[in-house]
Amino acid sequence: MNPNLSIYDNLGGAKTLRRLVEAFYPRVVVDPLIGPLFPADINPVMEKQYMFLSQFFGGPSLYSDAYGHPMMRARHMGFQVTPERAEAWLACMQAALEEIGVDEPLRSVVIKRLSGPAHHFVNTASSDNNDL
Ligand code: HEM
Repeated sequence: MNPNLSIYDNLGGAKTLRRLVEAFYPRVVVDPLIGPLFPADINPVMEKQYMFLSQFFGGPSLYSDAYGHPMMRARHMGFQVTPERAEAWLACMQAALEEIGVDEPLRSVVIKRLSGPAHHFVNTASSDNNDL
């Protein structure tokens, strides 16, 4: 890992980001806590996530160019994001990073960078059943 480069460049740019998103969403949709929140057709979500993570990790600003200011917390307000769901999201990401072969220390840097927003998006207290 080169600390002088962005996360985007450390990962290997667009190609790796695609592989990451493609490894991440199959895990998300079968996750009992967060899977039910997502639409049956996951492809548009995958594309938006690819565009968002590109800019979030220091690559081209694909998401803002297409959709304007991300306002990502606001975009999640329509969904009950509990602390458990934030952890489930991050666990899917951790597993996806492992699957595509992103090694330490980069893997931890990526997870750290995402755990801020994941916890920031929490908008609902813990519950036993995480009702939709
Ligand atoms: C904390 C747990 C999280 C949950 C439960 C969650 C869940 C969701 C759901 C249900 C959607 C909408 C899918 C649809 O279009 O119907 C969504 C969209 C999205 N999420 Fe998350 N998310 C989480 C964390 C994150 C994080 C940490 C990021 C990035 C840092 C992120 C980035 C996005 C993006 C880019 C979209 C697409 C937004 C758009 O429609 O333009 N999410 N998320």
